[in-house]
This record gives sequence, C-alpha cells and structure tokens, in this order.
Amino acid sequence: MAHPALSSPLTLGSLTLKNRFVMAAMGSNFAESDGRCGEQLKAYYEARAAGGCGLIILETTSIAYPAACSMPNMVGLSSDDFLPDLTDLVNRVHAHGGKIAAQVNHSGKVSQEDVAAGRPLLVPSTPGKKSSDMLPLLTREELGNFIKMAGPDGRGPQYQEMTQADIDTVIEQFANAAERCQRAGFDAIELHAGHGYILSSFLSPAVNKRSDRYGGSVANRARFMVEVITAIRAAVGEQFPIIVRLDAYEYRIAGGISVDDFIAAGKLAAAAGACAIDVSAYSNTGSGQGFTEAPIAHIEGSYRQFAARAKREIKLPIIAVGRIEIDTAERDIAAGRYDLLGLGRKIIADEQLPNKIVEGRHSELRPCIYCYICVSQIFVNAPLCCAVNTAVGREREPVIASTASHAPSMVVVGGGPGGMESARLLAEAGCQVTLYEKEPQLGGTARIAALAYEPNGRLIDYLAAELKRLNVVVHTNSAVTSEQLAALQPDGVVVACGADRSAPAISGKDQHHVFDGEEMRGLLLGGDDRGLKKLSPLYRLMVRSAQALGLLRPIGLVRLFSKLWMPLGHRVVIVGGGLVGVELAEFLVERGRKVTVLNLDATLSPELSIVRRAKVILDLREHGCELHNLCENIEIGRHQVHYQIGEASHSVAVDNVIVALGANPNTGLADTLAASGTRVVTVGDCGGIGYIDGAMLTARQQVQALLAS
Ligand SMILES: Cc1cc2nc3c(=O)[nH]c(=O)nc-3n(C[C@H](O)[C@H](O)[C@H](O)COP(=O)(O)O)c2cc1C
Ligand code: SF4
Repeated sequence: MAHPALSSPLTLGSLTLKNRFVMAAMGSNFAESDGRCGEQLKAYYEARAAGGCGLIILETTSIAYPAACSMPNMVGLSSDDFLPDLTDLVNRVHAHGGKIAAQVNHSGKVSQEDVAAGRPLLVPSTPGKKSSDMLPLLTREELGNFIKMAGPDGRGPQYQEMTQADIDTVIEQFANAAERCQRAGFDAIELHAGHGYILSSFLSPAVNKRSDRYGGSVANRARFMVEVITAIRAAVGEQFPIIVRLDAYEYRIAGGISVDDFIAAGKLAAAAGACAIDVSAYSNTGSGQGFTEAPIAHIEGSYRQFAARAKREIKLPIIAVGRIEIDTAERDIAAGRYDLLGLGRKIIADEQLPNKIVEGRHSELRPCIYCYICVSQIFVNAPLCCAVNTAVGREREPVIASTASHAPSMVVVGGGPGGMESARLLAEAGCQVTLYEKEPQLGGTARIAALAYEPNGRLIDYLAAELKRLNVVVHTNSAVTSEQLAALQPDGVVVACGADRSAPAISGKDQHHVFDGEEMRGLLLGGDDRGLKKLSPLYRLMVRSAQALGLLRPIGLVRLFSKLWMPLGHRVVIVGGGLVGVELAEFLVERGRKVTVLNLDATLSPELSIVRRAKVILDLREHGCELHNLCENIEIGRHQVHYQIGEASHSVAVDNVIVALGANPNTGLADTLAASGTRVVTVGDCGGIGYIDGAMLTARQQVQALLAS
C-alpha cells in the first residue's frame, strides 16, 4: 500500500473513520434559498462520500437561520423543518461508508445576509472602520455584488455589542443546532471557532476589547466558546464527538490571535469536551494578499507547524489543513505530527481523491491548479464551481455515455486543455478517440500559462497521462486540414485549435524589439519562429541551441533556465493588461525584469478570479511593477513607449515590448467541416475566448452535445 498511514482507520470518541481523509468544511452556496439541503447540495457531498472520504465536514451552516448567514444559500440548522433533508443527506453519505459532521456556526460580524436585511451584527466590541485593497481591483459587475453590504439604508453594517442575554441566546442556539444534527444522524459536529465568526471574534484580542468576564485574558476570551462546548456536551451526551475548528494564528492583524493563544484555547476546548482540534488560520480579509495566507493557504503546508505543536501540547487528535501535499501528509501522519488530513480545494478538484490514494492510483489524481475560482464564486454570492472539475455542482448531469452499438470514432483537433479534456471525456464515454496537435507537445496556450503559474502545468500533465491511460491515439507535430479530416470519416469532430493571437495595429509594433503573444511563446517554448527571426544572431544561436538540446520542451526546465537567461532586456513594457499580460508580468518580474503594464481597459485581468487577481496585482505592485489602466494612443519607439491616460501624456524607457493583445476565435476549420456535413463542435478559445476554466467547461458542454446529437 503506497500510503498506509493515510489509508488507516482512526477512532474519534464513539466514531471510527475508515481512513484519514477529511473533507474540510467549504461553503458551496448550493443550499436552497430557504436553507434546506436540496438535491444539488446532496449530490455534491454524496459524490465525495463515494470518492472514499473518511469524514466529510459539511460546510458552514447557521444555527440562527435566516440570521447569522455569510452567504445567501446557506444551510440552516435552526428548526426541525430542516431535519428531513439533513437526514437524507446523512443517509446518502452513509450509504457509501462515509461519515459526516456538520459545521455548526454563527457568522457574527461576517453575517452579510444580516447586513442586507438590516439586522445588526453581533460582536464582542464595536469594530473600527475597515478598508479593503481588493475593491479597486473589481469589475463593475463584481462590485455590484458587494452593494448589499451597504444594507437597505446604505449606511453599512450596524453592530450590536453582545449583552449577557445575547450570549446566552447564542449558546442555546448552538446547543439546539448540535442536538438537531445528532437527531438527523450526523456522526459528529464541528464547532466553528475560527475565521472571524462569532466565537473567534471573542477569541481574537484584536476584535474583543471587552472588560467583562468575556474579555482580557485568553481564558476570558475563550469563555464564550467553552460555554458553548459545555452546553453542546450537555445536549448531545458524553459520546457524541465534538470537533473544534480554531485559528492557530491571525495573519496581518495587529494584536490578533497568537499561536500561544491558540494552544491555550485548544486546551480549554479539550477540557470542556472537544474530541479533536481542526487547525486553521485567519487573516485580515480587507487584504487581497491576506486571504491567500489564511484561511486559503497559498504556500504549501502553511499551517503544518501549528498542527504539529497542537498535537504535542493539546493531546487530542488533530486535523491539519492548508495546501498539504498527499505525500507530505503521509509522512507527517506516520511520524505522529497530526492525525487527519483536511482537504479543501484538492477534494473539490477530484472527488475520487481518497479512493485513488488508497488504491495506489496516485498518478490519476486530477490536480487543483490553485486558481481560486471556487472561493471567488462565494465572494460574489455565486454557487461553487471548479476550473478543472466541471462536474462540481453538476453531479446530477453526468456526461452521457455513447449508446451506439459500435464505439463511435471521434477526432479532436488541438491539444490544449479544451482539446485534451474533450478527448478524455469522449474516451470515458466509450468512443475511439484520435487527437491531432500541430505543435511537438500537448498543452497549447496552457503551456505559456504554466510558465507563468506553475500549477497550470499540473493540469497539462494530468490530461496527457489520462489520454495515455484511456488509449487515446495522439499525433503531435500534426496539423490537419479539413480534407484530411473528411477523408477519415469520423462520427464527430471536436475543433479545439485555439485563437489567432497576432498583435493589433499599434504604432511601432513591427520593430525587432517588439513581440506579440505568439512570437513570445515561440521564443520561450519553441514552435512559432517569427520571434526568433527578430533576435540578434548571438541570441538566435542561443535559443536555437536550447531548442536543439530539447531544453524548451519540459516546462519545468524552461521555468528554471529562464531565471538564468532570456532573450529580453531589463526594461519590458507589456501592452495589454488582460490575463495574458498580467501573468506574463508575473513571470518577468520573478525573473528580475522591470515591468510596466499598459492596460487599455478599466480593470486589470478581469478573466482571473477575484482572489488570484488581487494576489497577483498586489504582489506585482509590491515588487515595483507599474500597472496603468485606461491607456490610449500608445506609440512604441525604439527606446521609449509613449502613451496617454486621459489628457496626460507619459513615456516609459524600454528595452523590449510585448503586445499581449489580440486574440480572435479561430473558427475557420469548424465552419468548413460543418459546411461539408461533418458533425462538429468547437471547444475552448476557437469558439470564444476564455481561460483554462472556460476551455474545460466548453469541453464538457460540447462533448455532451456531440454525444446527444
Ligand atoms: C470554496 C471554499 C469555501 C470554504 N468555506 C469554508 C467554510 O464554510 N468553513 C470553513 O471553516 N472553512 C472554509 N473554507 C476553508 C477550508 O475549509 C480549508 O481550510 C482551506 O481551503 C484550506 O485547505 P486547502 O488548502 O486544502 O484548500 C473554504 C475554502 C474554500 C476553498
Ligand atoms: S477552482 Fe481552482 S482552486 Fe478551486 S479547487 Fe478548482 S482548481 Fe482548485
């Protein structure tokens, strides 16, 4: 067995888990608008139980529904009316041998639905005014979703410092909700005492300024949580497991929760009756970069050391989370550093993760590419979705299997993510699939995206491995014409040959120090050699030598060597502040270039998810990259680029210019095939410009359409 520690059972109080995989609580916005668990939510969790997860922790819920909600479609626990659907959810998880805990919560100062409804937010102490560095980075449409935070009268959130009576009411609500979960058949509850919600706002010295018995010392700040645990214990009896989720540390919050505070609170929780501690962290949510420090860790294994300290000092079973790789967790659990692996994004990306690990099929894991689309959906009150796993939220709509008596023969043109995903889905549906790619490698434009952002490369590797496993016939270095395709007489064709990416008319763009997107891709990854022709003889020789040695094939090698040398000078101007321009800036800044981005529009990289966009842009600014919006009249000179913003004229010194503009859907091949009567669909950028998530989603939709036609 490849991962014996992760595959081994564990007992938590009265509960025995079949393995160490725990699905961390993740808000989905899948609940019905009246707080019930509906079919979409049940199917989503059932799929993860079928995927072999030992313990599922249901997303954040409200003990005071419809009050105390942080999302519009949140699960309610405040009345027996919710019981039938909660019970059905539990039964469907149990049917697959999984266990399920409910995360019982009161959103406190994060209860945006209370603000929208004009109800005051319950807080330990009235907070000061908060600012956010993310708001200026949002599109007008995204900003619209934040408007309800102004409340019905436009005055913003109103706060209510909790009286003893308020505290007693909330304690009773927690106890009632926990007892209701027990009656619904849940195997445990997780008490949410982290992430800025009501219990953690008491725990945090930065928020809790009280001078009564709930403020001051850590024991006083933890008193509310302890009283809640005690009341729950009284309501559910001695055996029912209570897990407590705590923040081990508050990042970017002056005077916030320290690791010592966390350990002390954990010990108090244990003494009050908790049976396990789930170790998370929190950050200043007004900071775009903070959110990717905690609770959604960007750095691998960010909170592992907190979990290990908790294990040593709190002496309870410990759940660790925060972008922990499977092999790392295996080693940590075997070494006794913690007991259970909490999975957030990885189990959104692949619901079969536990089964694949337990069965030794690690190589089949569909990787998370850390694009933050899932959590950005929640920011704008939209239902959860996943860039790489288009089945999320669509668990009830499987891709249709072919019903033909013979395996239909399907051809896919283009080996980018959209083409590869189409080929994978068609092969899974029982078709014989052949894929043609004109470049020497699979990956398409995602290869350049993988250069800029390493996790994107994992998706290319996964899809390429899946095509092999599913016996898809792959021809690289093979551009096909409509005549060749017609001669093959396939039952259907998926055209996923991307976009035409040549720079639009910009004054000065034809000079030798100016490259468009395709030329840049050719320089860094081989293929298109128009950029090569613009280089000096010495640089041309160096790039050709790298190509001849095969150094431009593996993306990892290109990432490494490009840190040592690239055929670009120190000062680079990127014209175009869309996704491609911004990710390119990230890549170049990491390689020591002084980069200026001239964006023609009002918002930078609107195609990136809010959270990733905020992180990239704020990181770029921190590293001295200049990003300008609404640039007009751009003129590229040999040593300077001139541009205008409003009435003001500017210029910037430059060694090289990259024009990251001008992608047009490439529909020619599909149109010709359709005209000749071939069953054809377009996927990815050749049907309309999208990103990896757009390519993956159109692959699913178009393969479904092709199989149904
Ligand atoms: C889409 C999304 C929603 C989340 N919602 C919750 C939640 O409802 N309750 C909670 O305690 N944590 C929530 N989290 C945090 C996760 O439980 C987890 O701690 C975090 O994602 C780090 O784990 P990971 O690196 O494996 O994703 C959410 C995370 C994501 C990605
Ligand atoms: S949306 Fe992106 S970050 Fe979220 S789980 Fe999917 S791949 Fe990972």
